[in-house]
Amino acid sequence: MSAVLQSREGAIVTITLNRPDKLNALNAQLLTELFAVLSELRKDSSCLCAVITGSGEKAFAAGADIEAMSQMTAAEALKFGELGQSVNHLIEALPFPVIAAVNGFALGGGCEVALACDFIYASERAKFGQPEVNLGIIPGFGGTQRLARRVGTALARELCYTGDIIDASEALRTGLANKVFPAAELLQKAQETAKKIASKGPIAVRACKRVILKGEDVNLTTATELETQSFGAIFGSHDQREGMTAFVAKRPAVFTGT
Ligand code: COA
Repeated sequence: MSAVLQSREGAIVTITLNRPDKLNALNAQLLTELFAVLSELRKDSSCLCAVITGSGEKAFAAGADIEAMSQMTAAEALKFGELGQSVNHLIEALPFPVIAAVNGFALGGGCEVALACDFIYASERAKFGQPEVNLGIIPGFGGTQRLARRVGTALARELCYTGDIIDASEALRTGLANKVFPAAELLQKAQETAKKIASKGPIAVRACKRVILKGEDVNLTTATELETQSFGAIFGSHDQREGMTAFVAKRPAVFTGT
């Protein structure tokens, strides 16, 4: 059985982490399949937005697979960590936005996958945390870094040091999740937002994603210069002319991604 499912509706792809019996725990098979699916999508210019969610009603992903990790040597754990990091780097650097629809537990590696997505929508029963210290280890798929960038260093430190789990309302309050929905509505709401994003100028959305991501790692002067370069480069594209011509003509724009 595939550990990762994908379905498509127009320009929107929904990816489902699919080990529901194990709360979608991330083992090497799931991570390898996810990497392969994402690698194909990266090359697919007709994909304009993706949603990642978890199979079943309980979990987005309850972490890296503890049973598998319990048998690993240090060298194997390093390789496993590199696999998880490469998946999350790939999600983060995809040319189109990715929304995490967190439908239940997003713990450890599950929280880290959600953090690699552009933003998180959560169901009312979502639970987030980096409980690795309970197992005597640390987050290994980017959690110590991306959690701090998302919610601030102090809260990230507290969550990583204590292993505390926070609920959806706390995730919303702290900026970890952008929005919270009843469980039955979550996926549809995430897909609606994905469709809205896909209806915008694809070159512009891609440029926003790239500049925001690259800007996180450099000082403000360099980051705003990146933005200026990208802003200028878009002029002359079909979509820039179409977007502005349509506005002036008071009609909807028809973007082509060119
Ligand atoms: N790795 C491997 N298997 C996991 C898992 C993980 N991270 N999380 C859950 N599972 C498995 C359980 O072992 C169980 O398998 P089984 O039915 O074959 O025994 C199944 O998923 C269901 O989990 P269960 O613990 O029975 O569900 P619960 O509702 O009682 O508890 C959690 C849910 C999330 C609180 C609990 O599963 C948990 O603490 N998981 C580990 C969380 C964690 O530490 N993640 C970070 C890992 S680095």
